[in-house]
Amino acid sequence: MKKACVIGWPIEHSRSPLIHNYWLKKHGINAIYEKKAVEPENVARFIAGLALSEFVGCNVTIPHKESAFQAVAETDKIARRLGAVNTVYVRNGKVCGTNTDGEGFIASLRQQHPDVSLQGNTATVIGAGGAAKAIIGALIDEGVTRIGIINRTRERILGLQEQFGSQIIEINETAAEQALATSDLLVNTTSLGMEGGTALALDMRYLKPGALVADIIYAPLETALLTKAKERGHPVLGGLRMLLHQAVRGFELWFGVKPEVTKELYDLVAADVQKAKRT
Ligand SMILES: NC(=O)c1ccc[n+]([C@@H]2O[C@H](COP(=O)([O-])OP(=O)(O)OC[C@H]3O[C@@H](n4cnc5c(N)ncnc54)[C@H](OP(=O)(O)O)[C@@H]3O)[C@@H](O)[C@H]2O)c1
Repeated sequence: MKKACVIGWPIEHSRSPLIHNYWLKKHGINAIYEKKAVEPENVARFIAGLALSEFVGCNVTIPHKESAFQAVAETDKIARRLGAVNTVYVRNGKVCGTNTDGEGFIASLRQQHPDVSLQGNTATVIGAGGAAKAIIGALIDEGVTRIGIINRTRERILGLQEQFGSQIIEINETAAEQALATSDLLVNTTSLGMEGGTALALDMRYLKPGALVADIIYAPLETALLTKAKERGHPVLGGLRMLLHQAVRGFELWFGVKPEVTKELYDLVAADVQKAKRT
């Protein structure tokens, strides 16, 4: 029987098995997708060993995305741009790595808001970590021309400017009002707003009317940022849809079928997120 898995440390919280096992059942594929807790010092060995193992590949989650990038034998352009891998697969006996976070975000946006066009748009991204980099790269590929970044650590914004060039604008406190007033899209990519964590403090009064507000956090399903945005009449996008869409390419690479992100799947994983909140 074919096997795939998600590796992380810790890994208990991962929803990837729920997603992939749903698709395996849906498509009648005789395979299993598991969670594997892999300690940081064992990541390189685990990934190098995939070529000769029972696994057709794996997803990689926190904190292993960068070490997985180092460990795979081949990477594609997207993985190299990010220096991080979230999807590993075996091709012609070689362990290959890619990153699907950026395409997951764009696909989720297209599914939820099919009429939105990003071409020529201006965006504001809060955060400058790994997920921010994936989303910034994808937004540039989609034709977004200016991306303002708000982040606690300034050096990380400068790093993004160095990598992506003059399209990346540093937004400090004094420039925030003007940046928000001209943004078509606002995305929170920080962990601020997560269940039980620190909230994201952002004055939404200045945000351009009608701007789309996205949060990649999915627990809670609707963050305080999205609730506030909805109250002000903005269209919104939650993070769960991105999680589902980033899983699509891995499944296709491992099992040869492109799965769909259906309402049934969304509801299944959303119910699991809600259940975890209650327990
Ligand atoms: N929906 C999805 O499919 C999906 C995919 C990937 C990630 N995510 C979520 O996205 C979030 C970020 O992930 P990541 O991989 O980008 O993590 P990361 O590389 O560690 O980046 C974390 C970001 O959050 C900021 N941050 C963290 N704590 C903060 C605080 N107390 N005050 C201000 N800023 C703070 C960091 O700012 P500094 O630079 O100042 O440290 C940085 O910009 C996580 O919640 C993760 O679960 C969701």
